[in-house]
Amino acid sequence: MKIPPVKGTRDFYPPQMAVRNYIVDGWKKVSLRNGFEEYDGPIFEYLKMFQIKSGDEIVEQLFSLQDRGGRDLALRPEITPTLARMVNQQINSLPKPIKWFSVPRLFRAERPQKGRLREFFQWNIDIIGVDDVLADAEIIFTTVDYLRDIGLTQRDVRVKISSRKLLSAGLRNIGVPEGKLDSLYALLDKYAKMPPETFDEALSAQITDSDAAVKIMEFMRATSLSEVTEAVGTGPEVESSVEELAQLMDLLGQMGVSQFCDFCPSIVRGLAYYTGVVFEVHECAQELRAICGGGRYDNLLRDFGGPSISATGMGMGDCVLGILLEEKGLLKERLALHKLDFFVACVDGAYRQDAVKLTMKLRSAGRVANFSYKAGKLGKQLKQASDQNARECIIIGEEFKDNKLAVKDMATGEQELVDFDEFLSRFDSG
Ligand code: HAM
Repeated sequence: MKIPPVKGTRDFYPPQMAVRNYIVDGWKKVSLRNGFEEYDGPIFEYLKMFQIKSGDEIVEQLFSLQDRGGRDLALRPEITPTLARMVNQQINSLPKPIKWFSVPRLFRAERPQKGRLREFFQWNIDIIGVDDVLADAEIIFTTVDYLRDIGLTQRDVRVKISSRKLLSAGLRNIGVPEGKLDSLYALLDKYAKMPPETFDEALSAQITDSDAAVKIMEFMRATSLSEVTEAVGTGPEVESSVEELAQLMDLLGQMGVSQFCDFCPSIVRGLAYYTGVVFEVHECAQELRAICGGGRYDNLLRDFGGPSISATGMGMGDCVLGILLEEKGLLKERLALHKLDFFVACVDGAYRQDAVKLTMKLRSAGRVANFSYKAGKLGKQLKQASDQNARECIIIGEEFKDNKLAVKDMATGEQELVDFDEFLSRFDSG
């Protein structure tokens, strides 16, 4: 009986694994150079962890299960609630500020589509305990630092920045009741993903006052902070959010990444816990879903029973990123393909033991070496050497009786006869 892979999951054969490792290694390298420390948590948590503050969309996409004691659990769809739980648990002993990163394997029962799967990896960087827009700027800088590192430019990707605080202040100004805000955020987050007529219908179902609906649309389409205040008016909260965004843009300029960044009020974020600056990175062709998203979430630790401590961070999945790198031709030369230093071949079975012994010696000396399990025709073994990307092929044959072996350079095809002891002495120091 053939059993297919589960829908929305991936098998990582060595070429796909090389891509995954390339992406993940880059995430880790960039996190460390920006001063983040790595953490991880369990792959499943109590179901209620994700029901408290992630929002309806995530709750609908949970893979939930019951343990043998009847406790309700769920596979993690994101790691931010786990981070909040972990930080709360040791809040008094952890040195602040907390700058942590993680690369969890996550699970969401989404409808599988280009760039969206049911199991994926997600880079997370978060700063906890800094109530300053400088921390939001550092999160955005670190995100761009990675995107630049893998070869993407401001012509390939854009960081779209807005503020939940500005949106909520604007919505209150135009009379949207507090109780309607969360469901309205969830809808507004879909603005760019829905056909315009469907969006308009859904908006008028939630906002019956047509003047207010028009103002919301003006807000979403604004291209500058002044257009936003024209749409929704001003007031102390709007003013302080506008000031904060202006400060953020200034900091991003000082950090040398503002050429990647745009103010874009239609960025709302689907998750319910954001409270301040929010951002997403999109590819310029607008054909794929967001590459990453994040923002400030000042109430999440408190909502999980801890103190009121501000936090900001972002999550970037590996799926859209992998597609984009492939499309832009940015993977080929950068992938660390499986490479051998040596492939040890032998001309017939009589030298097989010698070939095995030499291979083990090379490995003990720290070289990447393989041998052929079958001492078949030399041509076949040379093909294996080439298939395995060997730099050199050592050939053991007749001359071995005189303590000599042939060393073939696989790139040039040149071959020289070398004294065995001299060959071994090359590895004495390492
Ligand atoms: P999120 O917007 O739900 O945020 O996800 C962030 C990123 O994860 C997305 O932009 C996308 O790259 C990737 N992603 C999400 N769902 C899928 C999926 N089904 N398949 C493939 N990739 C996916 C969060 O998860 C927040 N916890 C991020 C955060 C960290 N905010 C603050 N700190």
